[in-house]
This record gives sequence, C-alpha cells and structure tokens, in this order.
Amino acid sequence: MTNHEIKIAFQEYSSVDELANIDQELCAGAVKAMENSHSPYSKFSVGAALRLKSGKIIHGSNQENVAYPSGLCAERVALFYWGANHPDDPIESMAVTAHTDEFELQKPVTSCGSCLQVLAECEKMQQSPVKVILFVAKGPVWVTNGIESFLPFLFFEDRLS
Ligand code: THU
Repeated sequence: MTNHEIKIAFQEYSSVDELANIDQELCAGAVKAMENSHSPYSKFSVGAALRLKSGKIIHGSNQENVAYPSGLCAERVALFYWGANHPDDPIESMAVTAHTDEFELQKPVTSCGSCLQVLAECEKMQQSPVKVILFVAKGPVWVTNGIESFLPFLFFEDRLS
C-alpha cells in the first residue's frame, strides 16, 4: 500500500483591494452581474464575470425558475455564453461573488460540481487554465489557477485510450 497526497494550491487575500487592478475590475464586473440575478426562490444572488484574452468582459448571474431544476448557476450562464459566442477568445480569468439579504456571507462561495465540470470543458476547449477569483463583500478572497485546483481527480478523455 502506498499513501499519496495531493496538495491543492490557492492564494488567499484579505480583500479585493489587494488584487491587481485588472482583477479588481473583474470583481466589480461580478458584482454588477449580480444585479441581473433572477433568484426569487433561493434569495441568493450569484454573479460571475469572465475576462477574455481580448479584454472583453462577459457577465453571468444565476437564473432560477419556478420549475427549480430548470434554473442555472451564474458560472454556467457565463461559461455557456462564452462557448456560444466567443469560443476563439480564451478565458483568462473568472470572478465569482454572491450575496443574500438573509445573512452575511463570511466566506467566498465555491462553485458547484456541475459548474466545475463545465469549467473543465472550457479549459480543454481553449487549452489553457482559467484563473478563478472567489470573493464576497466582507471576507477573504480565494484565487486558484485552473480546474486542477478544484478537481485533481477529474475524468480526462485521455484515460479512455
Ligand atoms: N449558485 C450559483 O449560481 N453558483 C454557485 O456556485 C452555487 C449556487 C446559485 C444556484 C441557485 O440559484 C442559488 O445559487 C442557490 O443555490
């Protein structure tokens, strides 16, 4: 028997103000994206912003539905928009934030497994990792470099051959 250890690396900052200007702008984009969150059922708003290599910013927010499973997370709204409209302009970074009036979020919201799986596909399409910046208004900022930080055991199609 052999024990293996996988280390997951991420950086923690105490606030968005500590980030480079370009990342602060992207975080402001994620906050703006939350304005269009349609979340009457969970009352939990999520905003995502993608910065593409060209400098273009794409916004996404969670879109809920009275038929609950028909809704979609902010990250996938933004990532699928990218795939549908800008697949040749690689995503360099994604900022994600959340807010609810129900209580104060103390820590960043980490993306759900389905969003991570979609992020993995986007990285595969563009052949480069996406820097992910997770933050809330009052709380730490977590920065990771690509899907491997979240899913080190991700299923890759090369395992099929
Ligand atoms: N949600 C997101 O948009 N992104 C996440 O990473 C986690 C959850 C949304 C889905 C739903 O509209 C609400 O937050 C509560 O789960």
